[in-house]
Amino acid sequence: MDLENKVVIITGAGSGIGAATAKLFGRHGAIVVASDINLENAQNVADVIKEAGGTAAAAKTDVTKFEEVQSLIADTVKDYKRLDVMVNNAGIGGANQKKTAEHTHEDWHKVIAVNQTGVFYCMQVALQQMMKQEYGTIVNVASLAGLKASGNNLSYSASKFAVVGMTKSAALEYGHKNIRINAVCPGYTHSALLDQLLSARDDMEELLKRYIPMRRFGEADEIAEAICWLASENSKFMTGQTITVDGGTSL
Ligand SMILES: NC(=O)c1ccc[n+]([C@@H]2O[C@H](COP(=O)([O-])OP(=O)(O)OC[C@H]3O[C@@H](n4cnc5c(N)ncnc54)[C@H](O)[C@@H]3O)[C@@H](O)[C@H]2O)c1
Repeated sequence: MDLENKVVIITGAGSGIGAATAKLFGRHGAIVVASDINLENAQNVADVIKEAGGTAAAAKTDVTKFEEVQSLIADTVKDYKRLDVMVNNAGIGGANQKKTAEHTHEDWHKVIAVNQTGVFYCMQVALQQMMKQEYGTIVNVASLAGLKASGNNLSYSASKFAVVGMTKSAALEYGHKNIRINAVCPGYTHSALLDQLLSARDDMEELLKRYIPMRRFGEADEIAEAICWLASENSKFMTGQTITVDGGTSL
């Protein structure tokens, strides 16, 4: 994949899909800024990339705080002169596995703040920089839950449908500026977020696997492949699209 020396920021890079994505960018020779609300985890990921001979730095950023997103991108541009790729991956599942009538407002606001407003903030500031360069690619991590109905987690569903919508609308606005914006929609994938979902019921794993034609959960590395491809020049005529990586669950 054509990612050599591309300057890449990944949010939520401290664990799961974000960590796997940061490491894959590193293996492809990109300059990686691993950003997370948890700096220790982000630093561990940056260290792994550096130990393998790559270039990486860690940054502490809460994507719900606009000033922190501004600093993340300003510091990256100060250090590396540009921002080629922005991967908006940070996301939370929400604690409230209940139906809509019982969904707590606290959970609603938390999930929307990270998954939806966080993606908006990161796209907005990244676009301001990419406009100056007249080049850039943005990959948003949505979900199968952004394409299909999913019960018992309305805020997550709303936030991920919003990510798909923001991806398409922003792609429409910036195609002529040589900026591409796409999204990856993972199905159930091994990570802390999936562990949280599995803990909701004893038989949850068995229940979920019934809906996956490939009868297994995805691995973070498998989602990372799609993210890197969409970020790379290998997909250079694609914008405003979603790629579903779900072992066939959406079928
Ligand atoms: N794992 C799955 O089954 C699955 C399926 C579909 C979509 N996704 C999406 O993939 C993305 C990554 O999730 P994951 O499964 O790797 O989960 P994860 O919990 O392993 O990773 C999420 C990361 O985001 C970070 N984060 C949380 N809040 C943040 C904030 N406010 N600012 C910055 N960072 C923050 C966490 O510290 C963590 O490192 C999320 O957007 C999630 O919704 C996951």
